[in-house]
Order: sequence, then structure tokens, then C-alpha cells
Amino acid sequence: MCGIVGYVGQQDALEVVLAGLRRLEYRGYDSAGVAILSPDGHLAVERKAGKLANLEKELSEVSLPGTLGIGHTRWATHGPPTDRNAHPHVDCSGDVAVVHNGTIENFEVLVRGLEDRGHRRTSDTDTEAVAHLVEERYEALGGDLAATVRSICKDLEGSFVLVVAHKAEPDLVVAARRNLPLVIGLGDGENFLGSDVTAFIAHTREARAVDQDQVVELRRSGVTVTDLEGTVVEGDSYHVDWDTDAAEKDGHEFFMLKEIEEQPEAIRATLGGRMQEDGLLHLDELSMSDQDIRDIEQVVIIGCGSAYHSGLVGKYALERWSRLPVQVEMASEFRYRDPVIGRSTLVIAVSQSGETADTLEAVRHARHLRAKVLAVTNTVGSTISRESDAALYTRGGPEVAVASTKAVMTQMTAMYLVGLYLAQVRGTRDPDEVRAHLADLREIPDLVQEVIDRMGPVRALAKQLAGSERVLFLGRHVGYPMALEGALKLKELAYVSAEGFPAGEIKHGPIALIEDGTPVVIIAPRHALQAKLINNVQEVRARGARTIVIATDGDEAVTPYADTVIRIPDTKSLLTPLLTIVPLQVLSAAVAMARGLDVDQPRNLAKSVTVE
Ligand code: M6R
Repeated sequence: MCGIVGYVGQQDALEVVLAGLRRLEYRGYDSAGVAILSPDGHLAVERKAGKLANLEKELSEVSLPGTLGIGHTRWATHGPPTDRNAHPHVDCSGDVAVVHNGTIENFEVLVRGLEDRGHRRTSDTDTEAVAHLVEERYEALGGDLAATVRSICKDLEGSFVLVVAHKAEPDLVVAARRNLPLVIGLGDGENFLGSDVTAFIAHTREARAVDQDQVVELRRSGVTVTDLEGTVVEGDSYHVDWDTDAAEKDGHEFFMLKEIEEQPEAIRATLGGRMQEDGLLHLDELSMSDQDIRDIEQVVIIGCGSAYHSGLVGKYALERWSRLPVQVEMASEFRYRDPVIGRSTLVIAVSQSGETADTLEAVRHARHLRAKVLAVTNTVGSTISRESDAALYTRGGPEVAVASTKAVMTQMTAMYLVGLYLAQVRGTRDPDEVRAHLADLREIPDLVQEVIDRMGPVRALAKQLAGSERVLFLGRHVGYPMALEGALKLKELAYVSAEGFPAGEIKHGPIALIEDGTPVVIIAPRHALQAKLINNVQEVRARGARTIVIATDGDEAVTPYADTVIRIPDTKSLLTPLLTIVPLQVLSAAVAMARGLDVDQPRNLAKSVTVE
């Protein structure tokens, strides 16, 4: 978590850094700060607890001229989110400023040593230790800031992106990376650093990813990347093929509302170019030969939060079509249970950001056990994509709201593609059936648009539910992961206690939660299990629940038991999550808005969770 920005060029550094932080605020919003090197060699630091707006207000009253700067937006780990713990952190003399994303696990040992050697600490953070270490070693290493940072990195344990500015270096920002994301933006007479490309996309679309244990020297005239021994490392740049508009609100009150509306296009992008002229799939990105695919004996899908729910949907599709056994596991639990996997296991790591620490560690563990790992991610050049054997990009475009919408939608779409591709290659579904399923998938963007266009009554319902303390979500089969997703969305956005259950399970305990008027959302599109689901609706209604049923157009089987019916168009039952998820997203956002909450930046959360 935390967003970092670095800049050296000709423009006003404060403006560039603040604009970058605005785009990275989704990564953390407990506090923010900047350090700007002025033309007369003063390293000015301003930092403030709370959202970036607090810092901007404070900065509107001061002048910070300069063309070199660094900035930070924080998700607190070490020390509460106060002014004194906000980044940048400085050394005793104020010559060095450091921003940091990650956690330095051995910071206590480092701090004890620094204090013994006379350094004074002014924050509770792990980061500050780095500023003091730079202070100690810079002169000793001949005033070479990059060499200083390299030497410090060797002593650090944990995960970090560090960006360092020094008063004596008017043309140099130094950064280092271990385990967390850092991207270089390559400009003309100016260069940029960011946690992701959105930080500098307004200035350049040429980017270069930084690899593990590499140190970057950013100057106006160019960029040098070395390993920790100081050996120069060549690397390829890439062109970012979306522009700033994709990362703007475009007239919407919240990014999430815009991102919900972008879903039809996002699905089209995920499907695009992956079908051959003969109507079958072509997924070279899997980097697996047909024989490799035929040799797979089991599939394990890992992910966190909404990505885990996409994985659950993937299980139904993969098992149905490819007849392979599929397990789905929360990435945070995966490696601690000594999983039984090996060369014939395909592990699919689902992650929008490609940086989630739990998922990354699970990927590393799976590869250590010699499984083949496929990343399903939205982020080109992300750590998970680079550390996996292959990556299937979901092409959802930037997602800024903390709550995942189009990312989940495109992850589920990608899971359907993988399921059909495995079936196609393994011959468990004949080519005509694969073509028919792909034709159904191609219709989904229009159907999702139809659902989006019908959301007026869901917003009205949200106003009625805004005062509810508890909401339950029920579904069966592929409706079950959507019940989990609906509950997660309502919890994270509206702070309403919400739980999702397989509908058949509630009589084994959770039904005790139902009181007179408890809202229960039942995901009940037309499918084979609907008769059983109707029994469950009756069971909860008999105990006083207010039943809100998501049902297929024209299906009257559930309506007698529904207090409110939300209609979706018909599609194949396995694909229904791509439609039922939309009212769940809209409902959560609208309940949060009715409660006066910040839909894009819910409390205590960050979009990219890079700590375990
Ligand atoms: O970037 P990732 O897909 O790995 O993120 C995983 C989860 O942190 C994420 O889906 C989270 O649950 C969202 N806030 C849900 O809306």
C-alpha cells in the first residue's frame, strides 16, 4: 500500500508530485507529504495527516519552488496516521528526505543502533531509520547517493520501495525496490517515478518496470538502473496504451460509479482478439503447449477478497468444461497449509493489481513446489505477472475506486476463457460446444449494459436499506460466490454488517440471525437449482426476512416470495454472475452514498494490499 512519486525535470515539481499523488491516493489515504528541493538548495518538507486534500490546503498557503521532488500518500503500518508519522521522513540535519512503501522488518535493530550512535528519532515509523542511515553513510561513500542506497538496501529486511532526495543532489532522485511496485516514467528532459503508471501518465506514456533489488538513479538527462552491486542493468521500456481520460471521473460523483458503467467495454476488451477465425480460442499468453495442458492433473486458484470470489466462479466453469479438479483458496492461507501440488498442477493467481502480498507469496510458494503458475491480472509489468510462468491480462483499464468492480468482472470473464481453452485443448468439450459458449460470452457486454440501464429501482431500494444494521446474501452454485461478493461490497463500502452464504447452508445456523424485517438478498436467476432456492427463500421469509430477489426476466417462479424483485436478462446459468454482480455493486454504492460515505475511499482500506 502507500503511493510514492518522484520527479526531476523542468516543471514545477510540487505540481507534478501532487498530481501524481492525487492519482495514487487509492493506495492509501491516512496522510500525505512532499519534499521539494528549492533552487537555493533547501529541502522543504510538508506533510499532513488525513487525506491529500488536507495537505493541499496547507500547501496553498506556502511557496515551494523547485524542479525536483518526491511525494507520498500513506496507508499506516508503523505508527498511527499522524502528522509526525506522515512521510517524507528526514535525518537529523534535514539534508535527506525519504518516502517509503512497505515494511522494514528489522527496523527495531536498526533504530537501536542509530540511537546508540546519537541519532534523534522524530517519528514512530520504520522509514525514518533509512533517512538516518543515508545521513551516516553518504559522506563515507564519497557523496554517492546511489551507492549509499545500495549499501543500505543490503541491510534491510522486508519489503520496500524507497525514494530518496538529498539536499546536495539537485539533479538526482534515487529509488530502490524489493517486492513492491515501482515504475519509471521516461520523459524528455524530465523523468518520473511512481507506484504505478497513473502517477505520471499525464506527462509520458513510456514506462519501464523496476525489478527486484534494483536501484534507480533518476536524472533530468536520463535514468540508470543497477543491481545492488552497482552493475548497470539494461531493461525494456513499454508504451502505456491508455491515456489520462481513463483515470478521470468523467462527470461521475465517484470513480466506482464510472467504473461500474465501464464494465461492458471492459468485458469486450478481455474477450477481444482471443478468438480465432474458426471461432475457437487462441490463448498464447498461457505459454503452455497443448501437451502441457493435457498433462495438467489439477488446478488451484488463489486470490484475495473479490479476486478470490472470481476464482470461485472460475472453479464452476473450469470443472464443468475441462473436467479437471479445481480447488480455490484464499491466497493468505495457501502456503501455510503445506499444499499438495507439483509439476502437474496449474496454479492460477488472480489479482487486479498484481501486487497483493498474500497472492505474491502464494505464487512464490507454488513455483517453489514446481507448479506452473498463471497470473490473471490487470497490471502489465506487475510483480505477480513477472514472477509467474505466464500472464493473462484482463485489460480492464485503470480501476481507481478501492472497491473492485470492473476488475472482478474481467477476472470472471478471463476465468471463463481459461475454462473453455482448457476444455478445447483437452478435448473435454467438442469444438461446436466451445464455439457456442464463446458466442454466449460475446453477448454478455450488451446484457451487462441492459442491467446497468435498469438500476433506478436498485438505487431507490438502497435508500430504504440505508438504516439496516445487517443484510444477508444467499445464492446457490455460481450464485454463492456472488452472495459473498455482494456481502463484501456492502461491508467495505457502507460499513453494514453483511454475510454471504450458500442458500442451502443457512438452515444449519445462520438462519438464527433473521429477525423481523432483516433484509435478505437472494441471487436466484433461472437455473437447475432454482426450486431448492425457492424453498430457502420461503424459509427465511417465514421467519420475518424482507426478501430481495434477483431474478431472470419473465421468471415468475420466485416472485410470490419476494418483497422486491430485481430483474436481469436471461443468459446461460453458468454465466449469470456476470449479470447478477451488477445490482450488487450498485446497491452497495448507493447504500454507502445514502449513508453519506466516501464510496471511493472507504475507511481503513487501500486498493493494493502489499503487506501480509
Ligand atoms: O489487487 P487484487 O485483485 O489482488 O486485490 C485483492 C483484494 O484486495 C481486492 O479484491 C479487495 O477485496 C477489494 N477491495 C474488493 O472490492
